[in-house]
Amino acid sequence: MKKEIKDKMFKKALEVQKNAYVPYSEFPLGAAILTEDGSIYTGVNIENAAYGLTNCAERSAIFSAVSGGHRKIEAVLIVSSTEEPVPPCGSCRQVINEFADGEIEIIMMTENGKEITMTSTELLPGAFSDSSMEKNNEL
Ligand code: THU
Repeated sequence: MKKEIKDKMFKKALEVQKNAYVPYSEFPLGAAILTEDGSIYTGVNIENAAYGLTNCAERSAIFSAVSGGHRKIEAVLIVSSTEEPVPPCGSCRQVINEFADGEIEIIMMTENGKEITMTSTELLPGAFSDSSMEKNNEL
């Protein structure tokens, strides 16, 4: 990924992170999604008094991109206020996989710019997908 695009995604994720609704965990995250046409969508974690209804930042951002008419995502960037970058949870990995345009980059960053990048396949090997439901499916 071009540095210029990554910088833009980082800036947008950092900007939106302050809108995270996190009264319970006080653990704000911001996410940015790059779509196939170069658009960038953002999202934050949105918690609920019924804790299980919480929506993660990555899924908020993906759902926004899909609501905007996109079906292919090219990269995901997550920003946290921790010392070390934060990885996406299992549910988010599955949702990323649903819309990933092949093997895509997942960029995990701290607000100070520390970064770990992994691919969607590294983060979810052997994923269940639409092809898993075919009669002659292969793992
Ligand atoms: N969280 C995310 O937004 N994304 C993840 O991938 C992991 C967890 C949020 C959910 C909750 O608001 C807070 O982090 C603590 O679990």
